[in-house]
Amino acid sequence: MEATTLKALLKHNNQVPRYTSYPTAPHFSDAVDSETVSSWLSTLDDGTNLSLYFHVPFCKKICWYCGCHTKATEKYDPVATFVSYLKKEIEVTASKLQAAPSVTHIHFGGGSPSYLQPDDFRDIMSTVRAHFKIAHNCEIAIEMDPREITEPKVAAYAQAGVNRASLGVQDFHRDTQKAINRIQPLHVVFECVSLLRAYEISDISIDLLYGLPHQNIEKIRENVRIAAGLSPNRISLFGYAHVPWMKKHMQLIAEETLPDGKQRLLQFEAAREALLEKGYVQIGLDHFVQPQDTMARAYLKGELQRNFQGYTTDKAPALIGFGPSAISSLPQGYYQNTPNNRDYYRALDDNDLDIARGLELSDDDKARRSLIEHIMCYQRIDVARFCEEHGINHASLGDYMAELTPLIADGLVEMRGSEIRIKTDAAQVSRIVCAAFDAYIQPQAAQHSQVA
Ligand SMILES: C[S@@+](CC[C@H](N)C(=O)[O-])C[C@H]1O[C@@H](n2cnc3c(N)ncnc32)[C@H](O)[C@@H]1O
Ligand code: SF4
Repeated sequence: MEATTLKALLKHNNQVPRYTSYPTAPHFSDAVDSETVSSWLSTLDDGTNLSLYFHVPFCKKICWYCGCHTKATEKYDPVATFVSYLKKEIEVTASKLQAAPSVTHIHFGGGSPSYLQPDDFRDIMSTVRAHFKIAHNCEIAIEMDPREITEPKVAAYAQAGVNRASLGVQDFHRDTQKAINRIQPLHVVFECVSLLRAYEISDISIDLLYGLPHQNIEKIRENVRIAAGLSPNRISLFGYAHVPWMKKHMQLIAEETLPDGKQRLLQFEAAREALLEKGYVQIGLDHFVQPQDTMARAYLKGELQRNFQGYTTDKAPALIGFGPSAISSLPQGYYQNTPNNRDYYRALDDNDLDIARGLELSDDDKARRSLIEHIMCYQRIDVARFCEEHGINHASLGDYMAELTPLIADGLVEMRGSEIRIKTDAAQVSRIVCAAFDAYIQPQAAQHSQVA
């Protein structure tokens, strides 16, 4: 990375959303309730492709860097209770549909879906298959904690049709693992990958983090070398978002062991270069994929998407989220389940859904959403052309140039006519460019993670 780019990125290291949705979740309100959701679900038709997301809000132990919605439990009983309610939620939700849309993507996230016992996982998938029409080429993905993977679990995944696995790895070094409360020896990751391949679950992603305690450029390069040596189809390289005011357990991470903004940028750049050298292609801000991977192909076809899980090839216009805190996205708008397990169970006891909040999309929201998603996916956009192609009134976007001018002056963004191009090694700036099109953002108000 050029010294001028590094300097400019540090100067613009603002707190802005990650734009996994637009409008972003902090702008949801209680104006959307269970009645609204029932009416939205009833309008989905047979021809609509549907995506399903299942949130498992439990882990055996909490990793101190974790920003996900989850709870630690050594005992399995609470997980078993959750499974029975999750199945109930599948039934209740399916009963609100008047058609049978075709499910093209299923994703198990969390928390740790791999905490589920094999019989519980099979049971959930049988319930899904009993209530939804699953497309024959449906992608069924699950996030896995390699430390809890056993052969009976992988056999259950294969039998249930799982065809993509994403492994939480983060870092291979003992000092960092100790400082984040996640001891995960290398052989555990190797064995997990071998088991998955033995059961022909061969679409494998690995999650790595930079910006963790005790990490430096050398160790980051080593993480990439080891991870790429396993030849996963995809490697995600996320920057550790340190938000101790939101997640109390992050206070257990000694701040003096964390790399500063400059070190974080250099770590990302070192990892990026190492991944490109290994033949991976960068997609968006944080994904690196093998050139033949479906995500690389979707990118080239202009079909890359972004949803609550990040970059995806999932083009379904409707996504239903299950489990506490899960967010759904329907053509009319977004809604989020209550994050409170007890409230979630109580509503299901009454055959109802506890919807905490949501947002009905206006035409302006939809226009800005498509624009923001495009920028997050492609790091460039011809605004005038995009508006013309999508029937958006360009003037209604307001004075976005006021926000972009400082980025242009510092060489992070280039303007060619009405085309905005973000510098190749400064993809992080996409979030700031998107903020220029965000009609809800209040400068300095929201506390998000920093760009770098
Ligand atoms: C739900 S977890 C993955 C599955 C499983 N629970 C595990 O940890 O192995 C999803 C991913 O989110 C990322 N993640 C979690 N907390 C984060 C944070 N504070 N900042 C950035 N990425 C984070 C990690 O890379 C993690 O692998
Ligand atoms: S990173 Fe994964 S295993 Fe660790 S606490 Fe978060 S969800 Fe659980």
